[in-house]
Amino acid sequence: MPEPIRTILEKHSREPDELIPILQDVQKEYGYISAESVKGISKYLRISENTIYGVSSFYAQFRFTEPGRHSVKVCLGTACHVRGGATLLEMLERGLGVHCGETTEDKRFGLERVACLGCCALSPVVQIDKEIFSRMTVNRLTEQLKEYE
Ligand code: FES
Repeated sequence: MPEPIRTILEKHSREPDELIPILQDVQKEYGYISAESVKGISKYLRISENTIYGVSSFYAQFRFTEPGRHSVKVCLGTACHVRGGATLLEMLERGLGVHCGETTEDKRFGLERVACLGCCALSPVVQIDKEIFSRMTVNRLTEQLKEYE
């Protein structure tokens, strides 16, 4: 078990109720929960890895893949969806060679979809890191991505 995980685990008792708080701490520390961390947690709490994945799938906050250097969030709320959000997402999946929830091999981009970014009048909307891009088109998005290393 890697040392930092041990440090996190030792702050918690071995009760199964501690699973969610432990997952939250691991994610806070590393930005995601690695397969190795799940193994460590499984041993510590004496619950199976499958149970850990199963329980945590109810919580949208947990991610199990390493985040990219830049996060790309495509809005697929109703307004964005009808104005081309799904096409943007498809283009990104094809262009970056990943599915939603995954990170590119070079760790440059992590791709996600979100339900609504709260600016429907500007749809379709894409958020890259903290910046919101409105009325996005495939061409503009392709150009925009070139600015991120
Ligand atoms: S649906 Fe996309 S911002 Fe609301």
